Amino acid sequence: MALFALLVIGYIILVLVGAGFATEPTSEKIPPLNTTLACPKLETFNIKVQGDKDFSRNCRVVAAKVGGFEIKLCESMRECGQGYFLIKRLDKAHCDKAMARSISWDYEFDAWMKKEIGPDAFVITFSGPQRAAPSDWRHLGNCVYKHPYRLTNTGNYTVSIVHANDNFEAIQEKDRTWLRSVNNNLLTDWNLDVCSIHCKTFTSDMIGQMALPVCGRWHPTQGVYLHSVEEHMLTQERYRVENYQIPYFWYSYPISHPLACKYDQLFELGSNNDCHAKNHSIKFLGDSQVRVSWDVTDRRLAGTRDPLLNNVHEGSRQNYYFEDGALNRYWEEDKEKPVSPEPSKHRTMIDFAGRDGHLTWFTTEYAGNPEFWRLGDATVQFPETNNVDRRLREFNSVLFNVGMWPMSGIRDGGHFTANRYKAMLTWAAENMMEANRRRASMNVEPLTFVWHGISSFPVTKPQEITYDSKLRKDWRNPYRLKIWSDLAEQVLTSTPQLETSIRRINTFELTHPFIHDTPDGGHFFRTPAVEAETDEILHKLNICEKPN
Ligand SMILES: *[C@@H]1O[C@H](CO)[C@@H](O)[C@H](O)[C@H]1NC(C)=O
Ligand SMILES: *[C@@H]1O[C@H](CO)[C@@H](O)[C@H](O)[C@H]1NC(C)=O
Ligand SMILES: *[C@@H]1O[C@H](CO)[C@@H](O)[C@H](O)[C@H]1NC(C)=O
Repeated sequence: MALFALLVIGYIILVLVGAGFATEPTSEKIPPLNTTLACPKLETFNIKVQGDKDFSRNCRVVAAKVGGFEIKLCESMRECGQGYFLIKRLDKAHCDKAMARSISWDYEFDAWMKKEIGPDAFVITFSGPQRAAPSDWRHLGNCVYKHPYRLTNTGNYTVSIVHANDNFEAIQEKDRTWLRSVNNNLLTDWNLDVCSIHCKTFTSDMIGQMALPVCGRWHPTQGVYLHSVEEHMLTQERYRVENYQIPYFWYSYPISHPLACKYDQLFELGSNNDCHAKNHSIKFLGDSQVRVSWDVTDRRLAGTRDPLLNNVHEGSRQNYYFEDGALNRYWEEDKEKPVSPEPSKHRTMIDFAGRDGHLTWFTTEYAGNPEFWRLGDATVQFPETNNVDRRLREFNSVLFNVGMWPMSGIRDGGHFTANRYKAMLTWAAENMMEANRRRASMNVEPLTFVWHGISSFPVTKPQEITYDSKLRKDWRNPYRLKIWSDLAEQVLTSTPQLETSIRRINTFELTHPFIHDTPDGGHFFRTPAVEAETDEILHKLNICEKPN
């Protein structure tokens, strides 16, 4: 009997221990006796899986009480550069009040945002051997937030944590008010030593010598912004460092590198000029973020090392790549506009359709065919198509985005809910598929579509709120943009046809580490982010027609 009791107790203990492990499958086992942490490798990783890792056995308090929060840092006991910040709101009544707020007309989305995102929004930026601003934020419940990170370069970092918004202001989609921000610096330049003594840092020349495979042309590329090291810079890196001197606390001049894969056509200083003979024509459709990408891509195709210095607005501009240095300066003030290259010249043509915040070519315009009903006869060339199809006939690629304007103030066509945005993009994507189906009747190849992605955006500082901004009621901020960026990824991969027809870039991830550096409070020219975008745009456009 006693033996039986012992067996039962033993069994219960086993079950409990087993259950303990089962509920924490990613928990790290007993720390190894060898306390030297493994150095990071240059490799891609699954952000979601990384965020699920549990390092709760190795946490320390970073700040016991700051701006109403407690901040803890939990780090891996096996691998350098992996961990997360746990940010806990101390005032539970404040939390309960926020959680009771109704934040969306869509009850399911309301519940999802409360569970996964939570009332508070933060921006966490790492500077030092690498620039990073992780965006896999999670709400653990009760206003406790987990912010996982994984750094590839080792060394001494400084970390800043900004409490951007509270009370669901960042993502609520019910009250038509201006977006209130807190913008409180919880941590500024906090030092974090990531295996600075025993690991070697990665430098561009080292990566340049690695035999890496070519990156895929369909999925967004993952990457890291490494710190440039004086005696280890590539040629293009050196002039980028000179171009983008960002006056920041400490100088960080990163250059982007895709993790564990490389790009095969950067057009850097004329390196792929042969490819212009393929006569590619590319239409850039979208908002001013796309326009900035168009300007920077044009410079890259021109083989110039001059950076884009201004956010240049509309006018009669037609930027063509050209091997004449003077042309690359004409949009700067006081410069005369030179003559465009002859249409018959072998060239890559990149054309910006004019700012269009709502992607009208593929949303409101596509379904109609007004000029055709008016004519009602066969005088229209390619009558089985529509105006948009015909305007795109001479092009073979379309790079597009939509998001910033639907998210802006209601007077600017904004205040879309996440669901309305999703419906809009779904409709646009369906029209793109239809455009390709119709192209056969015009005897042209299907278009290659490239999703430009949606950029991140700086957090508005309360002192910057003016009468005008209260009127405009702009809803843009990093949290909403990140949610929409993920929704876009979902929409564009929702059917096998979309997934194999639209190439995707995750501009949110590329720009988020530089939101504190935008020169005009919204665009990323004069930051390394535009070069990272252009690298990937050129890779996805595949102007050189290399294997996919
Ligand atoms: C400890 O681990 C590190 C990294 O895994 C390894 O390089 C080192 O050789 C190990 N040292 C000993 C004494 O096992
Ligand atoms: C990093 O910082 C730590 C402590 O702040 C210091 O001991 C270490 O020497 C630094 N490492 C490097 C490579 O400068
Ligand atoms: C590009 O255009 C030029 C001039 O129109 C033409 O001679 C050439 O054959 C074209 N090349 C290709 C690959 O279509």
